Amino acid sequence: YSSQAKPSRDSSYAIINNDDIEHFKTILDTHSILTDPSDIDGFNQDWMRKYKGNSNLVLKPKTTDQVSKILKYCNDKKIAVVPQGGNTGMVGGSVPVHDEIILSLSNMNKIEKFDPVTGVVVCQAGTVLETIENYLTPMGYTVPLDLGAKGSCQIGGNVSTNAGGIRLLRYGSLHGNVLGVEAVLADGTILDCLSTLRKDNTGYDLKQLFIGSEGTLGIVTKVSMITPPKPTSVNVGLFACQDFNQVKTVLSRAKSQLGDILSAFEFMDRPCIDLVLKHQQVQDPFQEKSPFYILLETSGFNETHDSEKLNNFLESIMAENLIIDGSLATDSKNISAFWKFRESITESLGKEGAVYKYDLSLPIEQFYSIVELMRAKFDDKANVVGFGHVGDGNLHLNISTPKKPYSKEIFDMIEPFVYEYTSEHRGSISAEHGVGLMKPDFLHYSKSNNSINLMKSIKNTMDPNNILNPYKVLPTK
Ligand code: FAD
Ligand code: MLT
Ligand code: ZN
Repeated sequence: YSSQAKPSRDSSYAIINNDDIEHFKTILDTHSILTDPSDIDGFNQDWMRKYKGNSNLVLKPKTTDQVSKILKYCNDKKIAVVPQGGNTGMVGGSVPVHDEIILSLSNMNKIEKFDPVTGVVVCQAGTVLETIENYLTPMGYTVPLDLGAKGSCQIGGNVSTNAGGIRLLRYGSLHGNVLGVEAVLADGTILDCLSTLRKDNTGYDLKQLFIGSEGTLGIVTKVSMITPPKPTSVNVGLFACQDFNQVKTVLSRAKSQLGDILSAFEFMDRPCIDLVLKHQQVQDPFQEKSPFYILLETSGFNETHDSEKLNNFLESIMAENLIIDGSLATDSKNISAFWKFRESITESLGKEGAVYKYDLSLPIEQFYSIVELMRAKFDDKANVVGFGHVGDGNLHLNISTPKKPYSKEIFDMIEPFVYEYTSEHRGSISAEHGVGLMKPDFLHYSKSNNSINLMKSIKNTMDPNNILNPYKVLPTK
């Protein structure tokens, strides 16, 4: 799962027995307790089939009170627990490492409240992201977060990973959009920070602790979030560039000339397009191949105003020879077709074989150099591709080999080199996917010792028995 060995089981955790299962039957109905290996299999392994645990119990609570009772019992008995949302995470955080109980939030899937004036929505943690989007659409609102996994990932999982995605450029991160969280602490205490207020400076902002802590500090049971009005005029451009300098300049022009209507600025290199053409039912919109592509989206509320702005922008980047080809989509069918090029890269890579995924924040100057360095290192041994949220400085460096299983030899060619490079340029070794099981021992490349020590003492205060998502996020060494 990385160049590091999988941590061995901490023998201080209790092994679940029949008495424990009988106890859980006093909290949950029998349908919410899975013990049959064939029912548990899908929960034990991640979608990439890279991480596999060995749990023999899945619990599916329906209420916060049930979550609280489960955790109180587990804490008293020192039974380890892994919270699981849609299980779409990229770093092995959502599956057990050994025999931890899997606590699935998928039965807590209700949208509880929506205020049509403020746009604040309150929902249970297991609500699927796309369900929230579909609920908001007729009311003229939209979720400030969008990602390729929207049909499966849950808002509690999004909050716990502080997921970024393609709208972060426009609406900012969940640290700003989440107004409140209800969470259950390791000892079963229910923490009600479910504010729906935009402003609340009453001391430490405790809800922030649960945003991006990947289930190590508590189980998120409810989320309140501000949602923006849904734009009514959307345009998407797909542009081809000759070199990465052009991509950079188009980005800075897009920011200054499109301003408030710029809603996405995504990047992919040619090998990504080739993969999508190979694995999906799509056609290349361009006659000629180019090394770099930009997907740019504008969203606003006044079609005439938006088109005028976009046309001026296009005229200026063409006059400056900043793109070598381009195509515009203005109706929803063509817009989805363009987005498919970007959003199906992950799935297409998955069809190739083993995929080694790296999610980096890098200064724009070094953004693509790491892809070129890795490509030179691998030569024809692996396919090295680069894509991502270039508007937010977030590169997805992916290396695929035709055959599974994952190989130590390949990991050793990538790690720790990729992390050293990132650290040298003061980037982040995890821009948006989190740390999970993949990166705890590499955390020091992006966080100082003092920061890691403070993280450990927060963990120790909130979960002294270390029952919540053990072996993840915090370094073992
Ligand atoms: P899971 O995978 O189930 O869990 C993720 C982590 O959160 C685990 O550590 C788990 O223990 C914890 N967790 C889950 N629910 C809770 C809870 N209620 N309380 C406490 N802890 C919890 N990510 C991005 O940031 N940007 C992208 O653009 C993006 N695109 C993606 C595209 C595809 C096709 C796929 C498959 C994934 C993508 N991801 C992306 C990864 C992303 O992290 C997840 O999709 C999403 O945020 C995780 O939600 P989930 O419900 O699946 O959580
Ligand atoms: C994306 O931006 O498409 C996701 O983060 C998924 C990935 O990195 O594969
Ligand atoms: Zn991404």
